[in-house]
Amino acid sequence: MSLLNARRGVDLIAALVEATVTPYLIHRLRDAMLSSSTGRRILKDRARINSTTVSLEWLRNLPDVTMGREYAAYLDRESVSLDTASLRYRECHNFYHALTGLPVIAEGEVVLKACEFANTLLPRTGLSMFVVVGLGPGEGGRVLTRCFPCAIRNGLQAKEVISIYWEEELETDVKQLRKRIGWQKPPE
Ligand SMILES: *[C@@H]1O[C@H](CO)[C@@H](O)[C@H](O)[C@H]1NC(C)=O
Repeated sequence: MSLLNARRGVDLIAALVEATVTPYLIHRLRDAMLSSSTGRRILKDRARINSTTVSLEWLRNLPDVTMGREYAAYLDRESVSLDTASLRYRECHNFYHALTGLPVIAEGEVVLKACEFANTLLPRTGLSMFVVVGLGPGEGGRVLTRCFPCAIRNGLQAKEVISIYWEEELETDVKQLRKRIGWQKPPE
């Protein structure tokens, strides 16, 4: 449905993926966060990123190269509000969009989900190769077939992004942040 209806299907993808993996995801996310000192701090602080805790105006006025400015640009570009997400897990997902530049339309969403789940859900070792089959007809299928291996590889190689304290990275140079995390910006 999402591939047929690019602008409207994102919630369907999110719903499908979350319903399928939530029982595993919750445990893996918790373990990932507990195993990192920053992750533990995020849990302890019950940190949230929304319009109460962060000012969109402040984000918009940060220097060009910063993560916060990139985040504001993403929110504006994709008509997403700071309060779209109801869980930190989803708030973080918005930062992944900003960091990768992947759009909210279906293909971007599917590729980003692949990257995200490779990063948080798959075992960290023993996955050196992926077989990618054609994912359907048309441009959407071609985009996905081309982008999937890259997304999975990126997700597996990167630092676990759920344990990033995004609030503390808003003034960080976004290029340096990508480098530190090991998450490349995908090709246009
Ligand atoms: C933002 O999150 C805080 C919890 O840290 C909550 O108290 C507040 O109501 C949230 N604001 C919005 C607009 O959702």
